[in-house]
Amino acid sequence: MNNPEPISPERRKWLTKVCLLLSAAGAAIVATPVGAFLIGPLAERILLRWRDVGSVADFREGETTEVKYDDSSSVPWAGVTGQTAAWLRYEGGEQFTAFAINCTHLGCPVRWIAKADLFMCPCHGGVYYSDGTVAAGPPPRPLTRYPVRVQDGKVQILATPTPIT
Ligand code: FES
Repeated sequence: MNNPEPISPERRKWLTKVCLLLSAAGAAIVATPVGAFLIGPLAERILLRWRDVGSVADFREGETTEVKYDDSSSVPWAGVTGQTAAWLRYEGGEQFTAFAINCTHLGCPVRWIAKADLFMCPCHGGVYYSDGTVAAGPPPRPLTRYPVRVQDGKVQILATPTPIT
């Protein structure tokens, strides 16, 4: 019977370092999604900002208008791709209702069809009433609403990063 060669101290040290390195890589793989889950809501709060979308005088009572603003999750080098939009309904006085432009099914941009008084999603036929509630199709819940305020005659919406399900 053959006796195995004893492992030299240098080789033992090298194997120990490899084992530690692999253990650290495994721990990082497990910890990354857990960390993202814990930090995600905090990051979203940090990205929340009031965005100017126009003056009160820019909107006509009873109409729903598309407004554009910089997406709060955008990076400085994003250019025009860092722009996003919302639908803003002017109720009168200082009352506005803002809806996210993204469908709650898979995030496609919905269109406002004034003659039908409906929001329509071109991707899978989702339909929403003018108050954002689901009228038909696959959307699982109403359009996301943003808080709106008027400051010094400027309409502002409190926008979060693009609300995709
Ligand atoms: S993304 Fe709008 S219905 Fe599917």
